[in-house]
Amino acid sequence: MISEATVAQFEPGILRDLPEITDISNEGLKKKVIAAWALALSQTRFRAISEVPPWGGPNIFVIKRGSQADHLRGVAHLAVSFANEFKTSWPEVRIDKDIVLAGALCHDIGKPWEDDNNERWRADPSICGYPSIRHPAYGMHLCLTAGLPEEIAHIAMAHSPTEGNAIVRSLECTIVRYADNTWWRIAGVCGLLKPETMTQQIMGFPYSIRQTDLD
Ligand SMILES: [Fe+2]
Repeated sequence: MISEATVAQFEPGILRDLPEITDISNEGLKKKVIAAWALALSQTRFRAISEVPPWGGPNIFVIKRGSQADHLRGVAHLAVSFANEFKTSWPEVRIDKDIVLAGALCHDIGKPWEDDNNERWRADPSICGYPSIRHPAYGMHLCLTAGLPEEIAHIAMAHSPTEGNAIVRSLECTIVRYADNTWWRIAGVCGLLKPETMTQQIMGFPYSIRQTDLD
């Protein structure tokens, strides 16, 4: 578990970097999201989510500026808008919006640790493999250790195609998975990603890249 003192140390920065946490209606879930992120950061060299470099995978989908906080917030915005669209247009649909929002904000919670260890793993993959444990699996471990519900741990574990495509995803995990997939691909064609970190194989389709005002 994680101490209250450690949570208190990291909490202000977590709420600054992920202000959408305050939109989680269940107070217990909100507290556990903060505790899980405090645990995630406390195991690494990073003191804030906004310090974690922005990437989808090692040398894949690297964002030109910003941090993992910008990606997490974007995925949360998309996932909640997907849920709102279906709940509004189809009132009979039952989606747990708190699980969608908390799951989106935690889906990459294992990335600080993956970033922290990537160079060590790469130096000699014969020792622990490369990567030893990717962020979805480590993220699942963090979620369960911090006391988050299984539904959130499942989203952390199965949002990625590598770990998630071999199992049946929950509805809320499916929403986060496609919000994440959509965020990276739209960011890419908008010109927000370093082009050398994009390929047609990773994108999944032939693409063009629009210049931005920063180019
Ligand atoms: Fe992501």
